[in-house]
Amino acid sequence: MEMTAEEFQEKFGIVGTSPAMKEVIATIMKVAPTDVTVLINGESGVGKEIVARAIHGASARSARSVVAVNCGAIPEGILESELFGHQRGAFTGAVETRKGYFEIADGGTLFLDEIGDMPLPLQVKLLRVIETGEYMRVGSSATQTSDVRVIAASNKSLEDEVAKGFFRQDLYFRLRSVNLYIPPLRERREDIPIFIEKFSHEFCERNKIVFGGFSRESIEILSGLEWPGNVRELRNLVESVIVLERGNHVDAAAIEKYLPKSGAFYSGEPTSRFLPVRVDKTPEESERELILRALWEIKNDIVDLKSFFQADRPERKLALPVPQYVPGPHEEAEDSSDGKELNLEEMEKYLIQSAIKKFHGNKRMAAQALGISMRSLYRKLQQYKLKDV
Ligand SMILES: Nc1ncnc2c1ncn2[C@@H]1O[C@H](COP(=O)(O)OP(=O)(O)OP(=O)(O)O)[C@@H](O)[C@H]1O
Ligand SMILES: [Mg+2]
Repeated sequence: MEMTAEEFQEKFGIVGTSPAMKEVIATIMKVAPTDVTVLINGESGVGKEIVARAIHGASARSARSVVAVNCGAIPEGILESELFGHQRGAFTGAVETRKGYFEIADGGTLFLDEIGDMPLPLQVKLLRVIETGEYMRVGSSATQTSDVRVIAASNKSLEDEVAKGFFRQDLYFRLRSVNLYIPPLRERREDIPIFIEKFSHEFCERNKIVFGGFSRESIEILSGLEWPGNVRELRNLVESVIVLERGNHVDAAAIEKYLPKSGAFYSGEPTSRFLPVRVDKTPEESERELILRALWEIKNDIVDLKSFFQADRPERKLALPVPQYVPGPHEEAEDSSDGKELNLEEMEKYLIQSAIKKFHGNKRMAAQALGISMRSLYRKLQQYKLKDV
């Protein structure tokens, strides 16, 4: 079943004809049929997951499942039991023996996203299961086996993480048997028109929208942007333009409305990309934001400290509460006297929402702009039941 690169791209929905993309396709077609571990690197939104899924889909394991785990989104305290499962009674709340992802993905592929966020003690266990296929459930000393192909992804440079002592070198060497780098969208701009075409076609089809299309000029404008959130950001923009233009033909003037006003993070200067979320605020508002941010960091430090101290007491791992902000009496009084004052929780919620909106759904950039970790952002999204864009 030899496939051409075009057929391969068609089958897995991966578009792009730039030399960079062709090289990526050639590599994944070569590695897919093997069992080799693949490490995919690239900025947020460049297509690491779609590539990982294509590698699985083109492998002999394709009849079995591919399980994707975002190591950055799962609280550290439960990541081990998520990956390896746990024995009944291993800790409070472990009322049943539970399968881990290595067991669920047996015979298939495990996609470990944001591998750079995996805690060091767990990295040792991961290396072992990759090398020997053996692992132990939390709370059990019996060895389990699993036949899983691991594909890992990271938008941090793991080499830097190794240098800083946050990532084990042996695991890094093991993972990067094949190292696949997907370049940012701004380095393969020739693919932008193809993406626009694909995303608008798919979106209109799915939502039964008759769309007037993008003018050539508007496509040129979009092709010239920096796209710090890469393909995901482009996709989100295309979809919101189509919805808001209600199917009209989109020309240059129309597209301008959807471009970021400040242009600050489209200047291409790396430092300007992670400026504070809002620059259009009064000094008073900015001050509030700073205070909020500081409080937030303190809270997160407390959570991390708690999980650190509880790490060697596995029975308490699951009982870790996420601290809720309890408004003091003064704030409560203020709240009831005039409804306009936002309490800290509402501000937090608002800040998160605006950061996510500002970065077109790119959570890593939103977290960075807010000055919090990805893990905290995911926790907040869950806590406030915010839509996971
Ligand atoms: N070459 C491509 N062809 C078609 N769609 C793509 C391509 N690259 C990315 N996409 C789309 O862009 C979006 C982001 O891609 P994906 O989730 O794979 O990125 P990612 O690198 O895993 O991002 P993150 O680091 O934020 O997890 C998805 O909707 C994906 O389908
Ligand atoms: Mg991803």
